[in-house]
Amino acid sequence: MKLPDLSDDFTDRVAVVTGGGSGIGRAIARRYAAAGGTVYVLGRREEPLTETVRLITAAGGRATHLTCDIRDAGRVTEVIDGVAEAEGRVDALVNNAAGNFVVPGEELSPNGWKAVIDIVLNGTFYATRTAAQHMLAVGRGSILNVIATYAWHGHPGTVHSAAAKGGVVAMTRTLAVEWAARGVRLNCIAPGPTETEGAGQALWGSDAARSRVQGSVPAGRFADPAEIAESAAFLLSDRADYVTGEVLVVDGAQWLGKSVYTDDRAPS
Ligand code: HXC
Repeated sequence: MKLPDLSDDFTDRVAVVTGGGSGIGRAIARRYAAAGGTVYVLGRREEPLTETVRLITAAGGRATHLTCDIRDAGRVTEVIDGVAEAEGRVDALVNNAAGNFVVPGEELSPNGWKAVIDIVLNGTFYATRTAAQHMLAVGRGSILNVIATYAWHGHPGTVHSAAAKGGVVAMTRTLAVEWAARGVRLNCIAPGPTETEGAGQALWGSDAARSRVQGSVPAGRFADPAEIAESAAFLLSDRADYVTGEVLVVDGAQWLGKSVYTDDRAPS
């Protein structure tokens, strides 16, 4: 058996990163470009995307931005087909675009539910199907979906996001089986609390909420987006060639630490 290239060298490879204008998406884009890859960052707002591109090109990397609302299936197809046409390939897709806000389930309007499901679940499918068409045609590709551990344990106040992320896990596993023999891998990464503006505003807007969240992490701190990007790079690289349909949790043991079966004898 021929061993895969064990580096995470992305030279001559092309990645599409949705929600690439900020936070984890930007960090993954920068990491991919730093390892030699060409990156296309997608997002709704032009300004943050151009800043990602500026950061990458200033470091000697290759990046382009394309405005795209991930909820617009036609635009998603147009943009990803355009990348394939311009570059002759799409090696990686990172489905990072997300929408979230905290609201009690009984107060969530149908439109609020739909907004998050459209971004997180439907948008992920739109990008996945188009990118996969190019990947399956050449028998090679890697798709990474950014989720959250509440996809399986749930979380009060985020029923829309938890349901959407749970759907993304099921999508990942289903398509991993469908496409494994055809060279296309799909995995999820589940970051814990990470120092990003988007999640911060949506989920821990006040100082009190922020310190509550930090206190829930056994590792005692938030993640740096670059740490999440490091694990993402592994899953996107040839080093993970036999890893598909999997979820990698990178959360400082936050969700495992939810256990309440402890008393004074247990170490804190
Ligand atoms: C209640 C709300 C609301 C809120 C919006 N809505 N915000 N309801 N509480 N705080 C309702 C609106 O009233 C409306 O319903 C519907 O949702 C659509 O709202 P719009 O503002 O028109 O939608 P839009 O402009 O498309 O914005 C989509 C969005 C927004 C999801 C609402 O927040 C967004 O674009 N966010 C992107 C950035 C983001 O959220 N990033 C955080 C991801 S962090 P009505 O009925 O009034 O018409 C993340 C990580 C989690 O996911 C993991 C952490 C560990």
